Amino acid sequence: MIRAFALGVVCAAFLSSCAKGPEVYTVTAPNGELAFHISNDELGRVHYSVSDQGTPVINDSRLGFAFANAANFADALYIAPATSGSTDLLWEQPWGERRVVRDHHNEQSFTISDGSRELTLRVRVFDEGVGFRFEFPDDFKDGKLLITDELTEFDIANPSDRTFWNPAYNKDRYEYEYFKTDVASVKSAHTPLTVLDSTERYVTIHEASLIDYSSMVLRGTQSSVLKGELVTGYDGVRVRRSGAFTTPWRTIQVTDSATELLSSNLILNLNEPNKLGDVSWVKPGIYMGIWWGMHVGENSWATGDILGATTAEAKRYIDFISEHGLDGFLVEGWNIGWDGDWIANADLFSFTEAQPFFDLETVAAYAQEKNVDLVLHNETSGGIKNYEDQMEDAYALYQELGVNHLKTGYVGFSNRYPRHDVHTNEDDQHLVYEWNHGQFMVNHYQKSIELAAKYKIGINMHEPIKPTGLRRTYPNFMTREGVRGQEYNAWSEGNQPAHTTILPFTRLMGGPLDFTPGVFDVTFKGMDASERIRTTIAKQLALMVVLYSPLQMAADLPRNYAAKLDLFQFIKDVPADWEESLPLEGEIGEYVVYARQERGSNNWFIGGITNEDARSVTVDFSFVGGGTYTATVYRDGPEADWETNPYDAVIETMTVTADSTLDVMMAKGGGFAISLVKQ
Ligand code: NOJ
Ligand code: CA
Repeated sequence: MIRAFALGVVCAAFLSSCAKGPEVYTVTAPNGELAFHISNDELGRVHYSVSDQGTPVINDSRLGFAFANAANFADALYIAPATSGSTDLLWEQPWGERRVVRDHHNEQSFTISDGSRELTLRVRVFDEGVGFRFEFPDDFKDGKLLITDELTEFDIANPSDRTFWNPAYNKDRYEYEYFKTDVASVKSAHTPLTVLDSTERYVTIHEASLIDYSSMVLRGTQSSVLKGELVTGYDGVRVRRSGAFTTPWRTIQVTDSATELLSSNLILNLNEPNKLGDVSWVKPGIYMGIWWGMHVGENSWATGDILGATTAEAKRYIDFISEHGLDGFLVEGWNIGWDGDWIANADLFSFTEAQPFFDLETVAAYAQEKNVDLVLHNETSGGIKNYEDQMEDAYALYQELGVNHLKTGYVGFSNRYPRHDVHTNEDDQHLVYEWNHGQFMVNHYQKSIELAAKYKIGINMHEPIKPTGLRRTYPNFMTREGVRGQEYNAWSEGNQPAHTTILPFTRLMGGPLDFTPGVFDVTFKGMDASERIRTTIAKQLALMVVLYSPLQMAADLPRNYAAKLDLFQFIKDVPADWEESLPLEGEIGEYVVYARQERGSNNWFIGGITNEDARSVTVDFSFVGGGTYTATVYRDGPEADWETNPYDAVIETMTVTADSTLDVMMAKGGGFAISLVKQ
């Protein structure tokens, strides 16, 4: 039972110390529904809980720290309220899923003390969730503080078997399909983790503003408690910091519906505003690339007969992209280091020298001439030292060549998987290995972003750290993978149809996703091959809208688009930067429908996708407001089915206004896309 309720607390303002138990404090949301409670027990252990309109959502859950070189901060603690405030403001994103973001929350800080040391716990409560973080003062400890555990727990008050989670500490980082289990079956999970709880509330646990700290995974305890666990460094220390610092925000989004969850801006709101100033050089867009050919085995990264990255091939792509009015061109395999087993080439990659047959200067100039943004690729194979040694020279060169987009990659290597080789340790300089989501790598990714900003380069990071909203502070941190993406359909047993209906409610809650949708030839190895894409062709179009990314890939080969120019028209029309995004309806793991308004225009684009079940939805166009629109609908045909007939698609045009509705049938593994152009 939540203490605040056990004590019958009624809070007049958003903070109140309770009449009968001054050790229990409550901070409420602006609309008064969601509430964060904090208290300490007889042993002085600090707990928090969260309730929604009086119903517990998170039961009493522990807070505190353990250190390697200081007394733990866990028991015999006192809580005192400190500063408070309320915020209600609008701010603008330079690019994003919506231009204007509202930040509306109540804030309260608490001083937590063990008699000799003090920490600040800062709490922000929004209508759709809470965030809290710890602030360590300069005098908490002389010299370096070594954190061995953050005690933060999340005790799910209404567990259900609809807990969606991505396993942590595995060989392929975040690249797994999501498990759907009860809370007690969670082992180690990355965040965002989402529970559709037994009261039908969505509860998403994540973190915001992960800087110079290790990322938090959730360790299952075979009960309703998920224990926050900081990813360890090579020596067992999870975080090392000196001087004053703050932890990332621990976040819990709580909503009554799927659409409210998908509309939340909480993660962005808990990040610092743009630190880069004028970022007009960060350009969203749709890109194609010398890429899918490697994954389906038609091309190679390495030199040889089927080498993908040649000057001629690059020009051919640039011509196609320019002819069809798309924005960017990615080239992989352009640089030295791909020959042999590239995953083992961590120390061999050069980021400034091109392979034979690829003339970087010529391609960069040609792209500029054709008004196409060149996106260069830097695969590190996890060789961080090799990369850091070259990063500055490489980024400076790219800027000189007019290249302002970079895709980075961190595929790990060797039997030390999944630890990334990466640096020599401080004491005896031997080589050590680090997890890709521990503090060392968090700091590496940050270095890359800040250095790229210096050279006006926008980053699309593969094998990244999970997104925690830093794109607000560093708008050149545009998009990233951190997911089991389309590439898995090329060379593994692939992704199940439900996968992409889970992602908006989990991985995308952290931020944009470079999933690389838009493949038309979904049976590239034949209908019977296990390597195929488990969607209809119409769903591939829908994913361009549903899976938000400011750099959105149209992943297929030019010839497959040329063969279906009628469907390709949607990819030519759809933008990657939005004025507004409206989730219209959905349910995690089932289906989702999004409408998004193009930035700087009256045009709208809709994408709807379903899992393995066929279903109909009714699109209500009232969101367009006034005016008459020409709608082009790309939907599954009557015989469509991802498994037996993925190419059955229908294209229709019609006129719609705010009063119109449209029933659309989605096939098994299917979907639909609509473009709305104001007349
Ligand atoms: C994995 C990335 O996700 C993929 O996009 C890339 O092509 C390969 N690594 C090679 O770097
Ligand atoms: Ca990958």
